Amino acid sequence: MNNLPGGLTGAVDRRAFLKTMSAAGLGVALGAGPLRAATAPAARKRYAIIGLGSRAQMYHDAIERDYREHAELVALCDLNPGRIKVAQRRSGANGAPVPRGYLHTDFDAMLREAKPDMLVVTTVDATHDDYIVRALDAGVDVVTEKPMTTDPEKCQRILDACARTGRHVRVLFNYRYTPPRTQVKDLLMSGAIGEVRSVDFHWLLNTHHGADYFRRWHGEKKNSGGLMIHKSTHHFDLVNWWLGAVPVTVHATGKREFYTPEMARRYGLQSHHERCHTCPEQEKCGFFFSLAQNPKLKELYLEQESHDGYFRDQCVFHPRIDIEDTMNVLVGYDDGVTLTYSLNAFNAWEGYQIAFNGTKGRIEHSIVEKIYVNGTDTEQGGIAEGGVRTRVIPLRGAAREIEPWVGTGGHGGGDKLMLDDLFLPRPAPDKYLRAADERAGAQSILIGAAANLCFKHGQPVQVQSLVRGLGRPAYAPMPDRTGPLPMPEKRNA
Ligand SMILES: NC(=O)c1ccc[n+]([C@@H]2O[C@H](COP(=O)([O-])OP(=O)(O)OC[C@H]3O[C@@H](n4cnc5c(N)ncnc54)[C@H](O)[C@@H]3O)[C@@H](O)[C@H]2O)c1
Repeated sequence: MNNLPGGLTGAVDRRAFLKTMSAAGLGVALGAGPLRAATAPAARKRYAIIGLGSRAQMYHDAIERDYREHAELVALCDLNPGRIKVAQRRSGANGAPVPRGYLHTDFDAMLREAKPDMLVVTTVDATHDDYIVRALDAGVDVVTEKPMTTDPEKCQRILDACARTGRHVRVLFNYRYTPPRTQVKDLLMSGAIGEVRSVDFHWLLNTHHGADYFRRWHGEKKNSGGLMIHKSTHHFDLVNWWLGAVPVTVHATGKREFYTPEMARRYGLQSHHERCHTCPEQEKCGFFFSLAQNPKLKELYLEQESHDGYFRDQCVFHPRIDIEDTMNVLVGYDDGVTLTYSLNAFNAWEGYQIAFNGTKGRIEHSIVEKIYVNGTDTEQGGIAEGGVRTRVIPLRGAAREIEPWVGTGGHGGGDKLMLDDLFLPRPAPDKYLRAADERAGAQSILIGAAANLCFKHGQPVQVQSLVRGLGRPAYAPMPDRTGPLPMPEKRNA
């Protein structure tokens, strides 16, 4: 039942933990570095992971490799017994004790028996809420991948569970940690362009990564909430956090233009087919995707199909798809800022352009990403060579090019910084307040949920009316919005 080193029991381990925590607390209060060094090593935090697909692997390896002094993996859970076995082999390869595997139907038993301190949720988006709520009610802390959930009703269940249990859910918004995005936050906080009054933000997905959403479970709203939830939760969260503001109104339109049976015909295919693996038109199709040729995809998905019938290579032109690929959104914020946002999923390049219009000038910022496909060896959210541009343009005078902050690894280095913040027992203080909880998780998905309602009914939506009892997320202080402004120098034309 427990995998503690040296045959320690859970009880001994917890006593050591409490002792260390009180000593560490004293160390902080006294500001005494040497006292910290003299304390016994903190007990390792016990983690369980539910959802053992491609994203889980980063957390799995982090717990068993980079952060093994502070963390241990005590249980693995999934609906697919094949993927549980793949994950157990991963622990073996990491040189770690092999955690017990549980089917999703034994989730509550897993919490009782493995006694995790923290559950990592990396399942299909629409199932997050169920595991979050059950873990909170069982007294287990939760970190969840984005999106926190997929609709207002599920969001309400999570908010109610947090209120009922007095616990918070950590939502893993890795984009906040990508160094050049943190740098934009730093510029905005420093008042480089005064107060922001409006934002123009355009995100492009190419026909590699973008098309891949239409091949997987993401292509159906019942699983992902559509790209307004699944993908844009990152982007809406970035804007909420960059501005330190809360969304109030949403107008939106959305449509599917490209990933349609009609487009398959226009490309000269006879028809859409069920999936690539058995497709008779593999040779002709530029969207053909081979699971068999990639050992990782083969092991994780193709070889596990017999257990759950899930195909990770469904036809991108299939009529089962009900998510949009072309979306335009207008968001009004509580501080008067307006955001114009678009997302397009069949583009020539991947990345984004954003402009913040402020009382003292404008920030223009863009990132071009490398080609990436989930579950392969390509780098998640990797930034292309020279792909970051940030400039500050004052109301008067020349634009200033900003040397970008850099990082390494997934999402431009953001994943590593987020993992430090998550797994280190005493992470460095963060003046940008990048660690997000359920309030930020909700504020971002509710913009997407409101946009989905607009797509259906064509009417603007009041975001805060979608749920009850949602507090304001903790944001770092932003420039004063009411004080005197320096008069720009006279420039007669
Ligand atoms: N932050 C990021 O950059 C990022 C990147 C990729 C994925 N994600 C998120 O991570 C999560 C997982 O995505 P993925 O790409 O690993 O998907 P995936 O399809 O590779 O894996 C999902 C796993 O969940 C399991 N599962 C599905 N329904 C379940 C249920 N009801 N109970 C238990 N297990 C269930 C599946 O069997 C599978 O093993 C998603 O929420 C996604 O949005 C985040």
